[in-house]
Amino acid sequence: MENNTEPKIPYVPGLAGVPAAESKVCDIDGQRGILFYRGYAIEELAEKSTFEETSYMLLNGQLPQKNQLDQFSHDLVHHRRLKYKLIDLMKTLPESGHPMDALMAAVGALGMFYPHINIMNSEERYGATVRLISKLPTIVAAWARMRRGDRDVLPNDKLSHAANFLYMLNEQEPDSTHARIFDQCLILHAEHQMNASTFSARVTGSSLADSYAVVASAVGTLSGPLHGGANEDVLDMLAEIGTVENVVPWLDKAMASKRKIPGFGHREYKVKDPRAKILQRLAEQLFARYGSTPLYDIAVKLESVMEERVGGKGIYPNVDFYSGLVYQKLGIPTDLFTPIFAMARVSGWLSHWLEQLENNRIFRPNQIYVGSAPRNYAALDRR
Ligand code: ACO
Repeated sequence: MENNTEPKIPYVPGLAGVPAAESKVCDIDGQRGILFYRGYAIEELAEKSTFEETSYMLLNGQLPQKNQLDQFSHDLVHHRRLKYKLIDLMKTLPESGHPMDALMAAVGALGMFYPHINIMNSEERYGATVRLISKLPTIVAAWARMRRGDRDVLPNDKLSHAANFLYMLNEQEPDSTHARIFDQCLILHAEHQMNASTFSARVTGSSLADSYAVVASAVGTLSGPLHGGANEDVLDMLAEIGTVENVVPWLDKAMASKRKIPGFGHREYKVKDPRAKILQRLAEQLFARYGSTPLYDIAVKLESVMEERVGGKGIYPNVDFYSGLVYQKLGIPTDLFTPIFAMARVSGWLSHWLEQLENNRIFRPNQIYVGSAPRNYAALDRR
């Protein structure tokens, strides 16, 4: 049969290297390990900015003036609380369920409390954007507490975005070092160009679905072990390795069974991910002040053996390799690592959503049909 829809462009598995949009949000040089948010180097943002300021800049394209930052930060504080019905709904979810699934369900439901936003109206779009960035930490912290039978903690309006999350999680104000390091982690995870979850957000946004559907679909995509879910797997792996002496025998076995080593490899980076370098420094800063963990020594050894074995293929630590060690030292449970990733990345997803709407065309790629030729339906007793 003639195939009129046969694409002129060859099939590229995983769309590797295929541009899916023109974007001004983020740029990566994977050969040199360089990352910019809207032209600002990630190292400089991590050192000098805050999550609130970085989010404003991602969403609006430039750094805010003082009054703009004050207003944005005020709006983020103002929208932190959750409707009691949403809390009630979350209480009905199975406490053994993964926090990413709880987050996806809660974000989907959130849209029902703020329905019918006119996404073509910039004020309504702004409201929906702020509400999502603001409420995700409240959802994650509330779920972490209520699944173990503790009551959720109301946000503290005096605290920054990062400090307030740690406060809602532990019912205790974090010290300034913990709060600042966590703030830097949020900056590092806020955006990363056309990754799987961002693509998912843009695809959902391109159908003119609202921002809640956009973020719920992106959360689902981020949850997979090849994407955000890898940060959890890294700590499990380091614990499984157990000792520095066991790194080489463990790796021999893992590589013989063609196992992918979590926290290594990246579609874009062929050198060590710049965020992994910063996260490693943050981990060392925490360990110097509050005591190290044997898992860090295992991680450093694993990185060096991996470099010898697969460095030539461009496989180096990615953002997930050291983030879990930082989060663990901040007292955060392992299965919250990926929801925290989502709490940060929501700013990037929404920046891409806004950009998608500026010049929208619904995503509708093609395929190469490799199924059966046309055939006749056979009755059940004749098959
Ligand atoms: N461990 C061992 N070998 C690896 C790894 C790894 N983590 N990653 C890639 N390789 C090898 C592959 O086996 C393949 O080798 P081959 O050419 O000899 O067959 C080669 O490197 C290319 O790998 P692909 O899987 O084709 O690379 P792709 O770009 O499709 O995948 C991915 C990138 C999914 C990140 C992959 O490196 C991986 O699975 N890593 C582990 C999971 C992980 O850490 N994910 C987090 C990524 S960062 C993020 O999403 C936030």
